[in-house]
Amino acid sequence: RGGNACDIVVFGGTGDLAMRKLLPALYYLHRDRHLHPQTRILALARARHEPEAYRRLVRRHVSQHVASADFSEDSWGSFSARLDYMPLDISQRLEFARLARHLGDSPGRVRVFYLATLPDLFAPTALHLHGAGLADDQARIVLEKPLGESLATARRVNDQIGSVFDESRVFRIDHFLGKEAVQNLLALRFGNALFEPLWRNGHIDHVQISVLETVGVENRGAYYDQAGAMRDMVQNHLLQLLCLVAMEAPVHFEPEAVRNEKLKILEALRPITGMDVQDQTVRGQYSRGRRAGETLPAYYFEKSVDHDSNTETYVALRAEIDNWRWAGVPFYLRTGKSLAQRKSEIVIQFKSVPHRLFPGTTPEGNRLVIRLQPDESISLSLMAKSPGRGMALQEVELDLHFDEAFKRRRWDAYERLLLDVIEGDATLFMRRDEIEAAWRWVDPIIGGWQEVYRSPKRYAAGSWGPEAADSLLERAGHAWFDER
Ligand code: BG6
Repeated sequence: RGGNACDIVVFGGTGDLAMRKLLPALYYLHRDRHLHPQTRILALARARHEPEAYRRLVRRHVSQHVASADFSEDSWGSFSARLDYMPLDISQRLEFARLARHLGDSPGRVRVFYLATLPDLFAPTALHLHGAGLADDQARIVLEKPLGESLATARRVNDQIGSVFDESRVFRIDHFLGKEAVQNLLALRFGNALFEPLWRNGHIDHVQISVLETVGVENRGAYYDQAGAMRDMVQNHLLQLLCLVAMEAPVHFEPEAVRNEKLKILEALRPITGMDVQDQTVRGQYSRGRRAGETLPAYYFEKSVDHDSNTETYVALRAEIDNWRWAGVPFYLRTGKSLAQRKSEIVIQFKSVPHRLFPGTTPEGNRLVIRLQPDESISLSLMAKSPGRGMALQEVELDLHFDEAFKRRRWDAYERLLLDVIEGDATLFMRRDEIEAAWRWVDPIIGGWQEVYRSPKRYAAGSWGPEAADSLLERAGHAWFDER
């Protein structure tokens, strides 16, 4: 892929996301010749750097964030020749005229405006781009999550953006959809005839979706303390994973077909309101703890976090999808920070056999585990005969590890998604109605927490989260699939 010649304009060019993810991803796209030779990258932020000083800063970060074998003077030299920097204060409308002059007249060139900024700045930036004549047919705008903090605020931002950018030119990123392993889930479901007939309530007992992190809030306390795990992770990443597990097969692998199917799932989520909020959700916050001999701080002692903070750093919940395929199948979701182990995985727990044939053994239901992180694998547990006399059964696993099956460098999610934006492919981006449907479901849960059940349950940093998250499953005779 050579892509179109374009200007990639990154707002928030000195921020964490730009340095850790976007610029390393652009470096790889450049090195692997996926960028058109005429493509330019312009970073913008308030700091008054000279372009050369900015390049030095980027070099430091890129060389840290790409594998050392992938960083070469040659590639860096030609990459940095594409890279430019301009100080710009987003709140100053007139500075956008300067930006327009800087970009110059370039008919036919695609312009990608990537807003790697705080969400409050999305709408003002879009309006100022329009004011400076930059929101034309050649322009695409990329918005990071979370978009809004409730249905009402998301609508307002979407309305404002929509007043200057047509929906087809708005790319709302959820980087989980850019992960290879997440797309593999689609390949597994719709590229194999094996699973689909069983992929329903008649055969599936329940589903678990876990995104567990060992990191705390790091340097993002100011943002995170306002957001919490529900807005930071569940409203977007976890619900998107749930959609991919649960959706019907789209007719085409094209943006509208895929997004229509995901939307149907979001709309079929049974609302969790009133007393159900207490019964079906668990909200936690980490307190001081230990992992591998190291003392870990409590959340409320983290930088830029309020000492009396009630923000949740952990959520577990039981969701249900009211449609023909999934009626009666619980979907357990959980995510949290400062936990015992880093892992993101989807567990499909199949029902057990209907009749016990072998005396003395109760066969377990088969379990399909799709591991997304830290390594990508798919394993399927099967019941097999234990060697020797009699007919004792034992669980064994079929394991597929992607790094062994494909000995190739894995693309980072941002590489894939940036290239999709350049090529104008929105299949792996969230449409406005998806975002709003997700908020419609999340809002009453957050509302319920504020009303009746304000303070989160404490869990020790380095642990597996609050005990209440275990009881949530135990009540239904289930358990989280963890090797504790
Ligand atoms: C981000 C969240 O969207 O995803 C972070 O804001 C979280 O809080 C991150 O740590 C996890 O992404 P990944 O790709 O590191 O699993």
